[in-house]
Amino acid sequence: MDDPNLIVGFERSDDAGVYKLSEDLAIIQTVDFFTPIVDDPYWFGQIAAANALSDVYAMGGTPLTAMNLVCFPIKTMDIEILKEILRGGLDKLKEAETTLVGGHSIEDSEIKYGLSINGIIHPNKILTNSGAKVGDVLVLTKPLGTGIINTAIKGGMANDKAINKVTESMATLNKNASLAMLEVGVSACTDITGFGLIGHLSEMIRENDFGMVIHTQKVPYFQEAREYAQKGLMPAGTFRNKEFFSKWVDITSPMPPFISDILFDPQTSGGLLISVPGDKVDVLFNRLKKNNVNDAAIIGEVIKEPKERIVLK
Ligand code: CO
Ligand code: CO
Ligand code: CO
Repeated sequence: MDDPNLIVGFERSDDAGVYKLSEDLAIIQTVDFFTPIVDDPYWFGQIAAANALSDVYAMGGTPLTAMNLVCFPIKTMDIEILKEILRGGLDKLKEAETTLVGGHSIEDSEIKYGLSINGIIHPNKILTNSGAKVGDVLVLTKPLGTGIINTAIKGGMANDKAINKVTESMATLNKNASLAMLEVGVSACTDITGFGLIGHLSEMIRENDFGMVIHTQKVPYFQEAREYAQKGLMPAGTFRNKEFFSKWVDITSPMPPFISDILFDPQTSGGLLISVPGDKVDVLFNRLKKNNVNDAAIIGEVIKEPKERIVLK
């Protein structure tokens, strides 16, 4: 079906769907939900909401309304847990100035929570994952390694410091990073989630006239992720990502195995990957700092050759 008002659909695995309502208004729709990743229900609720909102921020949109999606074992689990999850979600929505308008819940054997989000954007100002240009600089706004640390949490092997750091990072909205990039004007953006850094980069280069070089020693990650990866703590998603996305990667110098584990690590509520013209990167960093996005780092560049390749240096 060809609907001319569907301006961003499935075809480029972009973050959300965008549907044009008028010449100056389009609606952004997205949905995300998952099983608990941290033990604290209030924090889990916050993370799920930050994660669901992220796709709207990655496109440069403004979230407006949200609906809860809930699966809960009501017969065997204390209802207070559900209340705490929903409280976390609601508090995060408030921070995002997004209104909860409803939701739906069903009984299930395990908890799942997430949200569908509606946002708005000007149809000519949508940032997709495919708009990068040769000469752009690549900026990542949150450290990697949440998948590895979440696996350590599930296995009871993570220390409190690591748990707190990664929980706070996942619960942090990409709102401030998004506002900074909108003020500066950038070429492309996506958020790093289940496909990991490399998977999402491969979506940005595919069927495009450029490639990307990543300076692996500049990629920010949680120190504990290195430690846990070296102990073999890795989510199944890492192996899937390596199997599927390695074919876009050229490795030009030897790197320790934990680096590759981190580059393919599936993220929950990861940061924005922003492709910004080289002459604007300083201004972008000023804005990011001003907006308290303090972990952002330059990790690479968009290059003319080799096309459709991710070169790891
Ligand atoms: Co996304
Ligand atoms: Co998503
Ligand atoms: Co219903």
